[in-house]
Amino acid sequence: MVLREDLEQLLTSAGQNHLLEAWDSLNISQKQSLADQISTLDFPGLSQLHADAQKPAEHRLGDEDISPMPFSLAADDSRREYWLATGESVLTQGQAAAFLVAGGQGSRLGYEGPKGAYRVGLPSGKSIFQIQAERLLRLEQLYGKPVPWCIMTSPRNHAETVAHFEENSFFGLSSEKIKFFPQAMIPALDVEGKILREAPDRIALVPDGNGGCFKALSRSGALNWLAEQGVRLVFLYGVDNILVKVCDPFFLGALACSAEFKSASKVVAKRSAQEKVGIFAFKGRKPSVIEYSDLPESLREQRTEDQGLAFDGGNIAVHLFRIEALRQLEHQPLPWHAAFKKVNYWTPTHSYGDPETANAWKFEQFLFDSFPILGTMYPFGVTREEEFAPVKNASGEDSPVSARRMLGELHRRWLQRAGIAVESDTLYEISPLLSYAGEGLDQALFGRELGKGIRTFRE
Ligand code: UD1
Repeated sequence: MVLREDLEQLLTSAGQNHLLEAWDSLNISQKQSLADQISTLDFPGLSQLHADAQKPAEHRLGDEDISPMPFSLAADDSRREYWLATGESVLTQGQAAAFLVAGGQGSRLGYEGPKGAYRVGLPSGKSIFQIQAERLLRLEQLYGKPVPWCIMTSPRNHAETVAHFEENSFFGLSSEKIKFFPQAMIPALDVEGKILREAPDRIALVPDGNGGCFKALSRSGALNWLAEQGVRLVFLYGVDNILVKVCDPFFLGALACSAEFKSASKVVAKRSAQEKVGIFAFKGRKPSVIEYSDLPESLREQRTEDQGLAFDGGNIAVHLFRIEALRQLEHQPLPWHAAFKKVNYWTPTHSYGDPETANAWKFEQFLFDSFPILGTMYPFGVTREEEFAPVKNASGEDSPVSARRMLGELHRRWLQRAGIAVESDTLYEISPLLSYAGEGLDQALFGRELGKGIRTFRE
């Protein structure tokens, strides 16, 4: 049996004695459970995070020199055909895998479930997960090898994510080629640095950020699983972009052909200075991403001679890592980023619920903080209209409506390029099972598939 005295000394010296408030009202198993959670906590580490969070925002970037990272459009590169052939060979040999980070909470969209299970409102009714799954299935059709898929969830959405796949028979993919695993969690702290609880016997934990993906990949055994299958390149990406070309052969080929780089990232030109995307930059000469929330106004607005944005390389959360780079990051600590947010909490005088205003420090690691550690990263420029239609907000920019419109216009351009007569005021949705990136479309297929694999809509 756990005794209060056993915990008291530890918690008092850590300044976290409030965790014992309501101790006497707990039953034996609740006491045990709370004691178990307490035993896993790194008190000095949390205290350091809280102290760092108090530093003014301008200290977050440190004092290293920051300069823009130039990028050019990969589509204009003379090596394009060579890259494509190489990427296709990577796929044919089963040497590429996809790794989706989907442990976030999607709070801006206002959707309760896992963001990937969200149906964007396309005429097919497909969820974001289904769109991605079918792109992988199409690659399997084209290159003859299934692509292993790792999906990082969080303990909060793991069961629902897996259920979404099971209920849909894994969208036609082999379940043996998909590995789901949850990321780690970290306690939320109140304004004074006290650990919050969500119930008398439960510490309030939040996901440790998408940078938790490297250790989660390793601890879950998924990294070994990929290596055993001969995977060399891992396509690591965020969940919410409905145009994402999962395991894009050009991208695979570009990194495979560039031995000097350990990773690559797709870059788009920023839409405006205020767009909420991280920007690619050199920080102390190392490739980095500076998150929009950390980018000082002076850099955000800095202009080039021709009045363009100096820091114009936007992060669309589409990256590629060599497997050796993932090995290097397995046990590598990443920096923590603090944000003061709303976290549901419980105290003896506050019943569990949604606070009206921000009340807690949340700490997250960002996966792009691996770039300065690795030291080399290839910025692969792409066009927004073909590659980046995120679903982040319920309405307005980067919403389901804007993302659907972008997909509908892109697919209309694919049809036009294939010489098919389309209506200019109509949007088209082409099933990824028919075409991954515009290939294989012709008049006969259009006639046969219209209404099934090719649907029309308007916004
Ligand atoms: C992210 C990028 C931003 C980029 C933008 C492009 C980060 C920190 N920021 O911003 O630079 O311009 O995408 O769309 O990556 N996730 C987890 N676990 C977590 C938190 C998030 O798996 O604990 C996942 C989410 O499910 C999502 C991705 O990480 O797939 C990015 O999520 P989010 O934290 O919402 O970052 P954004 O604001 O979208």
